[in-house]
Amino acid sequence: MQLQGKVAMVTGAGAGVGRGIARALAEAGAAVLVTDIDADAAARVAAELAASGARAEPFRFDVRLPAEAEAACTAAIERLGGLDIVVANAGSTARMPFLEMPLAFFEDLVRLNLAGTFVTCQAAARAMIARGKGGRIVTISSNSGRFGGRGRAAYSASKAGIIALTQTMAIELAPHGILVNGVAPGPIRTEKTTSERPSEAFTARMALPRYGEPIEVGRAVVWLASDACSFTTGHTIGVDGGLTVTGIMEG
Ligand SMILES: NC(=O)c1ccc[n+]([C@@H]2O[C@H](COP(=O)([O-])OP(=O)(O)OC[C@H]3O[C@@H](n4cnc5c(N)ncnc54)[C@H](O)[C@@H]3O)[C@@H](O)[C@H]2O)c1
Repeated sequence: MQLQGKVAMVTGAGAGVGRGIARALAEAGAAVLVTDIDADAAARVAAELAASGARAEPFRFDVRLPAEAEAACTAAIERLGGLDIVVANAGSTARMPFLEMPLAFFEDLVRLNLAGTFVTCQAAARAMIARGKGGRIVTISSNSGRFGGRGRAAYSASKAGIIALTQTMAIELAPHGILVNGVAPGPIRTEKTTSERPSEAFTARMALPRYGEPIEVGRAVVWLASDACSFTTGHTIGVDGGLTVTGIMEG
């Protein structure tokens, strides 16, 4: 129970990776504000966590809106008694060929993934500083933030931006006792990625050739959010089955 007594907020926690992160934080003892743009999904996940004995509250929060970010931080403090950990997970993995991509598609994805992370983390940092107790912020980027990929012009750019944003926030927030790190997941099995195995395009480059589970991303977040992580800030850890370290696999 590494996070006993801590209060965490997770964005986009109504499904997929965010749901796994919320579960891992709850299993480690944290009280969790389960936020999502989809209020019903947030309520379902909060109920799941509460049914397994955790303290969890749902809250509707669209990460594109600074006023809602502020309201979510206030809700964590008022309903759960604090704000020690914030995980900026909400995002979309939408893809489209570069030559066909309208500017609006590019702007919308960057607004959701990158600006949404900025909005969440800025509100979180301001609330943590006002409380004067430090904290932990964890961003969720992607292996696609480290290298290019077909159809991923907007997605890769948004995720590379999150990795850079994580570094700069770490520098500016360190004097306030806030450590900022990130997780860059590889292919993760979610409600949306339902096939048995990830495509050969992924597995041919993976030392561990399978989907990761959302809870495996969550367990990395737990370490970054815990007091055991005390001299690491600004880093983004790959939870990707070795996808981003693989060169020649055979021969
Ligand atoms: N699934 C993967 O293989 C994978 C790999 C690498 C990175 N990621 C990252 O993990 C994060 C979650 O992805 P996922 O696969 O779980 O996606 P998902 O679509 O399964 O879940 C995303 C959740 O975010 C919510 N959401 C969407 N727009 C929102 C908004 N404006 N404000 C708040 N919530 C919003 C959705 O309602 C949904 O509950 C994303 O940042 C994604 O880039 C996922």
